[in-house]
Amino acid sequence: MRLEGKTILITGAGSGIGQASAVKALTEGARVIGIDQNRDGIPEGVDPILGDVTDDDTVARAVAAADRIDGLATIAGISASGVAIDEIGSDQWDRIFEVNVKATWRWMIAALPAMRAQGGGSVVTVASQLAFGGGRLNAAYIASKGAIVSLTKTAAFELAPDGVRVNAVAPGAIDTPMMNRSMSRAKDPEAAREYSRNRHALKRFGRAEEIANGVVYLLSDEASFNTGSVITIDGGWRAA
Ligand code: NAI
Repeated sequence: MRLEGKTILITGAGSGIGQASAVKALTEGARVIGIDQNRDGIPEGVDPILGDVTDDDTVARAVAAADRIDGLATIAGISASGVAIDEIGSDQWDRIFEVNVKATWRWMIAALPAMRAQGGGSVVTVASQLAFGGGRLNAAYIASKGAIVSLTKTAAFELAPDGVRVNAVAPGAIDTPMMNRSMSRAKDPEAAREYSRNRHALKRFGRAEEIANGVVYLLSDEASFNTGSVITIDGGWRAA
């Protein structure tokens, strides 16, 4: 019960890593407020807030639903893999940065007043191993993940005097609807899956629960000396 008595906001709680993190946070005793544009996948026991994470109204409703805010995990994200760097539309670029980067900042500052009033809190963001190694045909997404690393470190430094810790997880390829959509956009989806799977030292994709374990650790008081850190959970992708 590492999150007993804590109220945690999780964006993207309706699928994949966000959904697994919400389930794990519940089993660790938290009250979980799950934000997603899709109701279907939000787990039983989570207080749902439906809406787009980039809308002020969604942010306001989630904050108003919280009795207190001990933790925030900004997990909602979008990708547009399979697009060459010179074929990304300007609108597509902006939308990826709006959802992945600007919303991370927006939710972080929305949680701050409550965290400050309580004497602290924990924010967990989601980067990617691609932020460090780069990749192909996904420039806007990868650049957005690099920006999340910079934002995480900057916020950690700036908010440490408030007792607010800010950390990121950097997952490898995790078997979620997002990853499967990305693979299906490849010219040869089976070859793309095979290449990606074997790119990990452990020769497999990660499971959403394996990232949720890292998210919950960072949200918990066990991580009291973690701030500004990026925890790589990538099956040895960067080691390989
Ligand atoms: P997913 O697509 O399975 O789940 C994302 C959830 O976020 C969905 O429920 C979706 O409805 C919600 N969402 C997206 N945009 C939204 C918006 N504007 N407003 C409200 N809800 C919105 O994705 P997955 O794989 O679970 O990814 C979660 C995070 O992990 C993302 O930030 C992703 O970039 C990151 N990540 C995923 C990796 C993977 O291999 N699956 C690898 C590295 C990072």
